Amino acid sequence: MRAPSKLKISLAVTAAASLIAVTGCSANQPSESSASGGSDKLEITSWWTSGSEADALNVLIDGVKAAKPGLSVDNAAVSGGGGANARQALAARLQAGSPPDSWQVHPAGQLKSYVDGGQVADLTELWTQNNWASQMPKDVAAAQQVNGKYYTVPIGVHRGNVLWTNPAVLAKANVKIDPAAGVDGLIASLKQVQASGATPVCLGDKDIFASAELLESVIMSRTGADNWKKLFTNEYSFDAPEVKQALADYKTILSLANKDHSAITWDEAAKKMANGACAVNLMGDWAYGELVNGGKNPGKDFTWVTFPGKEDIFDYVGDGFSIPANNIPHADAANAWLKTLMDPKIQTEFAAKKGSIPALKSADISGLSEYQKEAAKSFASAEVVSSLAHAQAAGAEFAQTYADAVSTFNGSGNIDAFIASMTQAQKTQL
Ligand code: GAL
Repeated sequence: MRAPSKLKISLAVTAAASLIAVTGCSANQPSESSASGGSDKLEITSWWTSGSEADALNVLIDGVKAAKPGLSVDNAAVSGGGGANARQALAARLQAGSPPDSWQVHPAGQLKSYVDGGQVADLTELWTQNNWASQMPKDVAAAQQVNGKYYTVPIGVHRGNVLWTNPAVLAKANVKIDPAAGVDGLIASLKQVQASGATPVCLGDKDIFASAELLESVIMSRTGADNWKKLFTNEYSFDAPEVKQALADYKTILSLANKDHSAITWDEAAKKMANGACAVNLMGDWAYGELVNGGKNPGKDFTWVTFPGKEDIFDYVGDGFSIPANNIPHADAANAWLKTLMDPKIQTEFAAKKGSIPALKSADISGLSEYQKEAAKSFASAEVVSSLAHAQAAGAEFAQTYADAVSTFNGSGNIDAFIASMTQAQKTQL
């Protein structure tokens, strides 16, 4: 553990002061005339700028506008899949003391980094008043907590380890990808696709999260869910033979991908796959929302399997929103926003555009797609783990080290160097 910086300490102090301010305008006691300067405006930041992401976000924006007629919402989304750009822009605003009213956050690890920095408000009172914890799976509620207090609200649950496949390209190569055949089976299938003359893998890692997510899918498939979890409690080593094997596998998979992968984005890669430019694309199930948004027909233009591995793992990537601990510009509107996100009807409508499943058990999924119904079943029955590529399994610093190590590895292919960086980070950052 590193000693907290002076900045962190001073933020924590102001956080404690503003916590009082925030709980003072909680759900049941909205304070229209708080220091916020009124309730007619709301500024929110996220990284939801692709077609499906923007449409899904608009469901939320329309929802809060309906709850607060006359409200003007400033959608300050910053483009860049996975959110690295958006979080950088947010960090600058937090440092300058001018936060938006609410921002997108992943639960657990990333949330904890904001809590440790004293940057997000304690929402425990709002949770208790509205009895939210009882309305969602225990794991989901737990991920929104740090040290027993709630600091965010969950809008949806994504699965990170999905392999999207093009049925025509696979059929032409006479390949059927069997999730039970594991990583070895997958690599054999991809080589068979290559022998048919097609590109096996579409990858779009202009934003590095895409290859970070591909590598984590291979690692967890090789280690199994339990050992994946132990990587973040220091009970299992990045030096383990399974991790080494996964890095070698990943290197092979990378060699079977489109050569321009670092020049294209996650959504471009998913569309390339659906258009027949390759056989498979590993991406979280926001790709489902994006492909459908782009007019692709699930089951025909594209199909899916869980990333092949030794067991059925659900790589959980949660989306939610927090509000600032200090200097909140429009506290009352932010409060209405959080409550809108926790409306089951809004969660269903959002999921329909986004490809996720709702966080709330009371949200009706009967009208969602077959894919989403499958995802909901898996979330209840599979081994659920958290994503590192999305800073959920560990804090922001560790996740950044991982992203940097993946980036370096993509260029060098040096397995030992990757393991050394992660082992060092395990010792010093967890
Ligand atoms: C993830 C987020 C998803 C999706 C994806 C690509 O971090 O959880 O909702 O937006 O990034 O931008």
